[in-house]
Amino acid sequence: MKKEREQWGSRWGFILAAMGSAVGLGNIWRFSYAMGAGGGSTFLIIYLLSVLIIGFPVMLIEFAIGRRAQTDAIDAFKKLAPKSFWVVAGGMGVLAAFIILSFYGVIGGWSLKYIFTYITGGVSGDTETYFNGFVGSTIEPIGWQFLFMGITIAIVMLGVQKGIEASSKWMMPILSILLILLAIYSLTLGGASEAMTFMFHPDWSAFSDPSVYFAAVGQAFFTLSLGMGIMLTYGSYLSPKEKLPSSAVYIIILDTLFAVIAGLVVFPALFAFDIDPTQGPGLVFVVLPTIFQNISGLGAIVGVAFFILLALAALSSAISLLEVTVSYLIRRLGVSRKFATIGIGFVIFLVGVPSSLSNGAVTIKVFGDPFLDFMDKFSGNLLLPLGGLIITLYGTWSWKSNELLEYADLQDAFYAPALLFFAKFVAPIAILIILIFGMLNW
Ligand code: PHE
Repeated sequence: MKKEREQWGSRWGFILAAMGSAVGLGNIWRFSYAMGAGGGSTFLIIYLLSVLIIGFPVMLIEFAIGRRAQTDAIDAFKKLAPKSFWVVAGGMGVLAAFIILSFYGVIGGWSLKYIFTYITGGVSGDTETYFNGFVGSTIEPIGWQFLFMGITIAIVMLGVQKGIEASSKWMMPILSILLILLAIYSLTLGGASEAMTFMFHPDWSAFSDPSVYFAAVGQAFFTLSLGMGIMLTYGSYLSPKEKLPSSAVYIIILDTLFAVIAGLVVFPALFAFDIDPTQGPGLVFVVLPTIFQNISGLGAIVGVAFFILLALAALSSAISLLEVTVSYLIRRLGVSRKFATIGIGFVIFLVGVPSSLSNGAVTIKVFGDPFLDFMDKFSGNLLLPLGGLIITLYGTWSWKSNELLEYADLQDAFYAPALLFFAKFVAPIAILIILIFGMLNW
C-alpha cells in the first residue's frame, strides 16, 4: 500500500522552513567577510544580480523537481531520470552538505562561545586580540564546535525540527528588528559615509576581476541554500495547491534583506574603528564586539541577544544540512535514524576539526588559504554553483518547457518566457563561465 507522503501543515510552514534553512551564518558571517574581501560595492552588485538572474530560476526549478518527484534529491533524479548522468547532482549535493556542515559547525561554535562571553560580561580590551586568542587556541574552539554539533545532532535525531520551525516564527522578526536597530546605531558611529561609498558606489574597474564573480555567485548559492537539493527536498513536501513563484520571492527578498542590513551593521562600524575589511572569516566576530563595547551600559545585553539569535539562525540552517546526509544514509544503508544521525554527525564534527585548528593553532593551508577558508570556497563557490548548473540543465533541457512551467506554477505568469530564457540559457552559461574563470584564477 502506498504511504501518504507527509506534507507541510500550511503554506507558511513550508516558507518558514525554507527561510530557516536560507537565513543563517551565510547572511551575516559569510556575507560580510566575502563582501569585505571582494571589494564592497562590486561584490554587492554582482551578488544581487546573481540572486535575481540565477538564484530565482534555480530555486523555482529545485522546488518544481521536488514537487514532481516527491522525494529527496538523489532519489529524485533516480526516479525521474533513471540511469542517467543527472544523478550526480544528488551525489554532489550530499557531498556539499557534508563539507559545508563541517566548517559551519566551527562558526556555530564561535557564536555559542560569544553568547557565553556576553553572559559573563562581554569582551573587554581589544576585540581583535580577544578573537585571535580564542580561535588560535587548540581545544576551546573545538569544544564549542562539539557543543554546536551536539545540539544539531540532538534536534535531527529526536525529530524535533517542528520546534525549531515554530521558533523561526518569532526568532526571525526579532533578529531582523535587532539588526535594523544595530544598523541605525552603527551608522551614527562616524564611518557612515565611507561605508556608503564602500557598499554602494560602484568601482567599475573591479568588474574585470573574475575572483569577485566567483565569490559573489557562490555567496548567492550559499545564502539561498541552493545547488544541493535542500530546496528540492522541501519542494517535495508541497501540496499541488501551493503557488511556488511567490513563495520563492518571499524567501529571496527576506534572505537578501538580512544580508544587506547585516552589511549596514558591519561596514559603518568597521570604518569608524579602522578595522580591516579583508581579514577573512573573523570579521563579524571582531566588528560586532567593537560595536557592543560602544553601547555603554547595554552592550552586554545586546551582545547576548545578538549571539543567541545568530546561533539559532545557524542551528536552523545546520539542521537542514545534517538532514540531507542523514536521510541519504538511512535510505542507502537502511540504518536507523538515531545511528545515522549520531554516526555521520560525529564524522562531520571530526572533519571540521582541521577547519577549527586552521585559525591560528596550527598552520594548515590548501592553495594558500587556511583550511577553513578553503573548505568554504570549495563547497560554496564551486560545488554549489556546479550542482545548481546541473539541476538547472536538467530542469530546462531534459524536461519539456511546458512541464517545467506547470510544476513551477508559471503557466499564467506574464514573465514566464523571460524566466525560461534566463533559466535555459543565461543562468547556465553565466555559471559555467564564472566557474571556469574562477577556477583558473584560483
Ligand atoms: N543558507 C545557509 C546560510 O546562509 C547555509 C546553507 C547552505 C544551508 C547550503 C543549507 C545549504 O547560512
